[in-house]
Amino acid sequence: MENNKDIFWHELEKEKKLGDHTVIVLDETVSTNSDAMDLGRKGQQTGTVVIARSQTGGRGRLGKNWLSPTDRGLYFSVILRPLLEPADLPKITLAAGLSLCRAITSVCSVSPMIKWPNDLLLDGRKCGGILTESHLENAKRPLVVLGIGLNISTPSSFFPSDLQQKATSLQQHCKTVVNVKKVLLSILREADEMIKSMERGKFPEILDQWKKYDATKGKKLTWLTTGRKPVSGISLGPDEDGRLHIKDDQGQVFEVLSGDIQLQL
Ligand code: BTN
Repeated sequence: MENNKDIFWHELEKEKKLGDHTVIVLDETVSTNSDAMDLGRKGQQTGTVVIARSQTGGRGRLGKNWLSPTDRGLYFSVILRPLLEPADLPKITLAAGLSLCRAITSVCSVSPMIKWPNDLLLDGRKCGGILTESHLENAKRPLVVLGIGLNISTPSSFFPSDLQQKATSLQQHCKTVVNVKKVLLSILREADEMIKSMERGKFPEILDQWKKYDATKGKKLTWLTTGRKPVSGISLGPDEDGRLHIKDDQGQVFEVLSGDIQLQL
């Protein structure tokens, strides 16, 4: 007998559509972000979703891996060509974080938070992540791949030992069985709305909403610069461009565009 998961994948393979989105379903791939980027560069339609049941080389920010065991999570990438300036592209990650929070709150009645810029947390543990990559083939319409990984039912024993206390899966926080199709549809719907709002210059409104889910504001954290130099301080939250402001013990404020943030316990 087919279970809900199999029905979800069979329907997706048969329909090849999710709302307005064309969907490419893969059993196994290295990384849906790499696939979507290759397809996008060959002219694949905007809005196409590449989704896989498993990834062998799922990628996160800063060269990290994204564990993607078969049928234990959502691993997908959306091809976008937003009408945005290249300088505005990092904001897409924040907008996508808000989309994720809204979608899983409405479908699963959970209370997620976001650790700037791209970590989705449930009860302080990482449950999802966003990897936004771009290719500036056309100055007016950059090619952007929005990659989302969401752990749905990954057992903690699957995570490497150093991550077992830091990672979690949606099902552990949800009282009812997670409806994966609803979650996916809801994320796509929210993300579509966010992109349209950003194109209309409404990022300030998105940021206001984002701040309701901010896991770091007022907390002590350590920022590892891209050169791995640690800077410790208090998070003042993101500015209007999405850069995180951190005030160190000497009162110096750093405007962070990239790098690794670790909350201090
Ligand atoms: C992060 O937490 O640093 C981002 C994780 C993003 C993982 C997703 S899974 C689907 C897509 N394909 C990838 O290789 N990465 C993203």
